[in-house]
Amino acid sequence: MSRLLLAGATGLIGQITLTLALASPRVTRVIAPTRRPLPAHPKLVNPVVDFDALPGDADGWHVDAVACALGTTIRDAGSRAAFHRVDHDYPLAVARLARAHGARAFALVSALGADPASRVFYSRTKGELEQALANLGFDSLTLLRPGLLGGDRAQHRAGERWAQRIFGALGPVLPRRYRVVPPERVAAALLEAVLDARPGRHVVPSEQLLG
Ligand SMILES: NC(=O)c1ccc[n+]([C@@H]2O[C@H](COP(=O)([O-])OP(=O)(O)OC[C@H]3O[C@@H](n4cnc5c(N)ncnc54)[C@H](OP(=O)(O)O)[C@@H]3O)[C@@H](O)[C@H]2O)c1
Repeated sequence: MSRLLLAGATGLIGQITLTLALASPRVTRVIAPTRRPLPAHPKLVNPVVDFDALPGDADGWHVDAVACALGTTIRDAGSRAAFHRVDHDYPLAVARLARAHGARAFALVSALGADPASRVFYSRTKGELEQALANLGFDSLTLLRPGLLGGDRAQHRAGERWAQRIFGALGPVLPRRYRVVPPERVAAALLEAVLDARPGRHVVPSEQLLG
């Protein structure tokens, strides 16, 4: 693999993935479309884009693989429709464009419980995206399904912080799938998935992403 497209490179998982990808000798170029600019790096191409109007003809879509860590929360997005646009429509638009330009592998940070038939809107959105991606014909598709992420994020999310504390404290007695997941592990697994590009569809459950 030489050219990697990374979506969500300014986020918690995305930033770590970007650092790993820029340091990897197996990646020659990282194309990271974002809505706010990233610090420059000789291996990085960073188009600042509007995800509602992605340029269909840009050279950046000619990549070997795509790693996607895009996402928001219903609270930050402001509505379910806005959340669905960021967590479903944007990743799918990126996937379609990259696939149309020859990308063979795609790896997604999805979430524990992703299921298109779920009664929970968040899980249903993630499941619908997984399903739509599976229909695009990538040789390799990896769906990481972490539970609650640990780590510090610049943006304050009080509810998540409380959940991290409670689930963190209960960690030793919780079933492994409900334990707090280190973002470094998710980022490493995301990059590994696109570098290995194992043929087929692979689901990585939360318990396999623990430290
Ligand atoms: N938090 C958890 O506990 C948890 C658990 C399981 C799964 N996940 C999933 O894991 C994925 C990555 O999570 P994370 O915590 O790393 O996310 P994050 O820190 O919130 O980063 C999300 C990324 O998406 C971008 N983004 C958000 N809204 C956008 C918009 N309207 N237009 C363009 N870009 C936008 C952000 O760009 P800006 O920097 O410009 O905002 C950022 O690059 C998400 O899909 C999330 O649902 C999270």
